[in-house]
Amino acid sequence: MTDDPLAAIESGLAEVGVEYRSRFAAASTEQALRVERAEILGKKGTLTGVLKVMGRVPASERPRVGERINAVRGEVDAAFEARLAELRVEARRAELAAPPYDLSLPGRAPSGRGHRHPVLTVRDEILDIFRSLGFAVAWGPEVELEQNNFTKLAFPPDHPAVDMQDTFWVRVVGSPESARTLLRTHTSNVQVREMSTNQPPLAVVSGGSVYRRDDDVTHSPMFHQIEGFLVGEAVSFAELKGCLTEFVHRLYGERNVRFRPSYFPFVEPGAEVDVACVFCDDGAGGGRSSCRVCKATGWLEILGCGMVHPKVLELCGIDSERFTGFAFGMGIERVAMLRYGIPDIRLLFENDPRFLAQF
Ligand code: FA5
Repeated sequence: MTDDPLAAIESGLAEVGVEYRSRFAAASTEQALRVERAEILGKKGTLTGVLKVMGRVPASERPRVGERINAVRGEVDAAFEARLAELRVEARRAELAAPPYDLSLPGRAPSGRGHRHPVLTVRDEILDIFRSLGFAVAWGPEVELEQNNFTKLAFPPDHPAVDMQDTFWVRVVGSPESARTLLRTHTSNVQVREMSTNQPPLAVVSGGSVYRRDDDVTHSPMFHQIEGFLVGEAVSFAELKGCLTEFVHRLYGERNVRFRPSYFPFVEPGAEVDVACVFCDDGAGGGRSSCRVCKATGWLEILGCGMVHPKVLELCGIDSERFTGFAFGMGIERVAMLRYGIPDIRLLFENDPRFLAQF
């Protein structure tokens, strides 16, 4: 390129003038035409290269040179539009000249009717069992206030579940800064909502989606839970044990069940319920040592439970001197995996019809 900026611009524009005509004429599809246009007007295009020389043009000459470049740009644009119109006409002509569709060909039959997802089937099965045991069904929101998901359940502010690492916090447009909001991490928010608006006796069960930062063969970031609670006068751990054992037997038949002490901030005492692993429990413990699902323990945890902590009753406006109660929460996928022998929770969310068609 010459040192004289005016001469450099003139030769650049002349080159563009030759280039666009031949390039546009040779483009035989709309896509090819757009590529050619980008070669000239795009970020690294020839005309853009010419524009870069403007910095070296004396100020007095800039308006004239700018006008000249704009005129060439206008020419290129007009030629592009004209060629585009031509190509569209050509494409339409080719379409009309092609052999017509054979309208007499039979259509493709739909490949089978869909059905409910196994997680929903199991959810309703579980809700039905609790309904038959006298529980009412209630629903709660998936986007929840911190106070219903954590605070009223007596989670201390420094509990790991409250951490950013474990919980998906969301900002709700228009809500005050103080109203911290999250995707609920469990369905226990329904327990809080129901106990805050009703007085005992209460026996309620609920089900829905919950969200956590988890991801492996038995943990998914979005999963489903069932929550239930019963509050009344003189309710004891014996009722909890009886009710949940009956539930497990109605769902799985006479499988072994065990209650294992555990900790949840909102119950005291707390327990986890395990069911004998369906993948490796053959009654004699055979094959257990290699079982990936129960990690060779022979048991699969399906739910957490306990006696509702008096602090939680009080925070929800229920007299803890007069009333006691129990609560439980379970993962629906875990139950479905046990029910159908599914070895990896992720299969339930991949939406592969070959998998789903088996239910
Ligand atoms: C809870 O969520 C408590 N809210 C349950 C509860 C309610 C306890 C009332 C006491 C009284 P936990 O974090 O253990 O507890 O979860 C309950 C069940 O959800 C687990 O037993 C498991 O079956 C299932 N679960 C937990 N995390 C996941 C996950 N990431 N993917 C799939 N299932 C999960």
